[in-house]
Amino acid sequence: MGESMKIGVVGLGKISGQYLNTLSDRDDIEIVAVADLDELRAETVGAEIGVSAMSVDDLIASDAVDAVLNLTVPAAHADICGRAIAAGKHVFVEKPLALSASDGVELVRAARESGVRLGCAPDTVLGAGVQTALAVIDRGDIGVPVGASAVWAAPGHELWHPSPEFYYQPGAGPLFDMGPYYLTALVSMLGPVVRVSGHASRSERQREVATGPKTGLPVPVDVETHVTAVLEHASGVASTVTMSFEVWATRMAGIEVYGTAGTLAVPDPNRFFDPVEIYTADTGEWTPVDHCAGHREGGRGLGLIDMAEAVREDREHRASGELALHVLEIMESVLKAGAGHGVVNLSTTTARPAPLAWKEVAT
Ligand SMILES: NC(=O)c1ccc[n+]([C@@H]2O[C@H](COP(=O)([O-])OP(=O)(O)OC[C@H]3O[C@@H](n4cnc5c(N)ncnc54)[C@H](O)[C@@H]3O)[C@@H](O)[C@H]2O)c1
Repeated sequence: MGESMKIGVVGLGKISGQYLNTLSDRDDIEIVAVADLDELRAETVGAEIGVSAMSVDDLIASDAVDAVLNLTVPAAHADICGRAIAAGKHVFVEKPLALSASDGVELVRAARESGVRLGCAPDTVLGAGVQTALAVIDRGDIGVPVGASAVWAAPGHELWHPSPEFYYQPGAGPLFDMGPYYLTALVSMLGPVVRVSGHASRSERQREVATGPKTGLPVPVDVETHVTAVLEHASGVASTVTMSFEVWATRMAGIEVYGTAGTLAVPDPNRFFDPVEIYTADTGEWTPVDHCAGHREGGRGLGLIDMAEAVREDREHRASGELALHVLEIMESVLKAGAGHGVVNLSTTTARPAPLAWKEVAT
């Protein structure tokens, strides 16, 4: 193995612990610096994992950093990514790529022109769950895909997140927050989308923080909280999608793919290793499918590990900026279609990421 990729982490909130866990003690990745707007948080995390806490500017400018892992809130994604790319760093960013597709286009262009990699969450689709589903489709076990359904619904993230304000601001809401998992899985399995229609609305329900030091504080709602959409894939497959912060309970959550010979129950795309099930016209019953592709272990950060490997092997990385941009444009277009009661044609497309063979996480 060549030199390890030296990572500077920007944004040390709730999700950062999962990344630090996946990325610690590896030969191919080394975390060398951390930064956060909250300097005390950066000092504390830096001391815990034994690396320098820096200002965001210093981290981005540091010669010790090859790649910036951007785990800030959505409103800061494009700014931090753009500055890191301009400084010649590779970047891996949490989802969504940016608040708008036009900002996303700019990031993808800038990364390409600078010769650096731009990667984006979710990387959960690299786990054995979704990768096995993809393998089942590719080997024709459900025949030819005709349609798919994706539903994620919950009462709202303010019930569990200690700082849930950003989930109700542009860049989040159920579509921009949870949509990336479902849409990335749909595009990975069924290919790019060419046009969408949609509907988006919100209730009058007052939201307040339900846990942590901010308990009881109101959460202003500046996004649509119930979104439904129809996506037409280039292949002709139609996916119906519902993403909602308005649902107290549902029995319809998940992704199903409907083929000419059967139905595939795709595991939760926000998780790595959930079970896959198939129902075929031949068997007439639901049967579990053994995991046969994707990562057997690991967690958030696998997409960055794949990106570092792709740099070493001079190949495309899977959780790419292009894929994230396409997903971002789908989401933006669904809201546009909903607002205009029409259909929106997409201007971006993406290659279906290369399927991932059954893989142990190499350290
Ligand atoms: N919390 C989850 O379960 C979860 C799961 C998957 C993905 N994500 C994604 O991860 C990202 C972060 O979510 P979180 O839950 O960790 O949020 P958080 O609010 O807990 O943490 C965000 C951190 O980023 C810092 N920050 C914000 N703007 C910054 C800037 N301009 N420069 C430097 N630091 C800045 C904040 O001070 C904070 O420490 C979001 O994009 C979210 O969609 C979160």
